[in-house]
Amino acid sequence: MSNTEVRAPIVLAVSGASAQPLAERALQLLLQAGEQVELVVSRGAIGVWQAELGVRVPSEPEAQERFWRERTACSSGSLRCHRWNDQAAAIASGSHRTRGMVILPCSMGAVGRIAAGVATDLLERCADVHLKEGRPLVICPRETPWNLVHLRNLTALAESGARIAPPVPAWYHQPQRIEDMVDFLVIRVFDCLGYDLGNLQRWSGPIQP
Ligand SMILES: Cc1cc2nc3c(=O)[nH]c(=O)nc-3n(C[C@H](O)[C@H](O)[C@H](O)COP(=O)(O)O)c2cc1C
Repeated sequence: MSNTEVRAPIVLAVSGASAQPLAERALQLLLQAGEQVELVVSRGAIGVWQAELGVRVPSEPEAQERFWRERTACSSGSLRCHRWNDQAAAIASGSHRTRGMVILPCSMGAVGRIAAGVATDLLERCADVHLKEGRPLVICPRETPWNLVHLRNLTALAESGARIAPPVPAWYHQPQRIEDMVDFLVIRVFDCLGYDLGNLQRWSGPIQP
């Protein structure tokens, strides 16, 4: 990784699948680590926040930044929020440097559109840019079961260079609370970028009797 890439921001993209708390925790950990985060929350994600959590996420960047700063209770790092349909945003261009992009969670609609090269909003355009620039793109699809269309679209994305990292829990780290499970899922996603986002009880062999 070059010096320029080390200093560049990470794009955190959130689409309209269930599991929005994973995105919130990822943002909090990135900001606590002092990262520069470019955040794009899709219109579908704003709808899921409203439907599942009864929370209204503002669309406008300044209001959204205040919203996330308050929710994450974190003033460190740098956060730039983008409107879901702002195709003129800096992250819509390959000339704007980033370290990589994580879509957490990723709806199967977004998976399909990105796999087809169709960019109807900023999240999809930014994913397309990461693929064309050969930069890390980590896609965290959340749906079950997967139909054949989902599987084919995910295969096409993997063939195009994306890492597919579904948020699948594990028990080997002996989670005691749902927050332990959330942290495990988020930290494993960022492992795909070679980024250590937090302390994780990693597997080091079976428990000795
Ligand atoms: C409460 C709720 C939960 C949803 N969960 C999922 C999900 O887990 N996976 C998925 O692919 N779509 C899910 N959807 C459907 C997507 O939100 C919908 O297809 C939306 O258009 C996706 O928009 P986006 O891809 O632009 O974010 C859910 C919708 C709602 C309202």
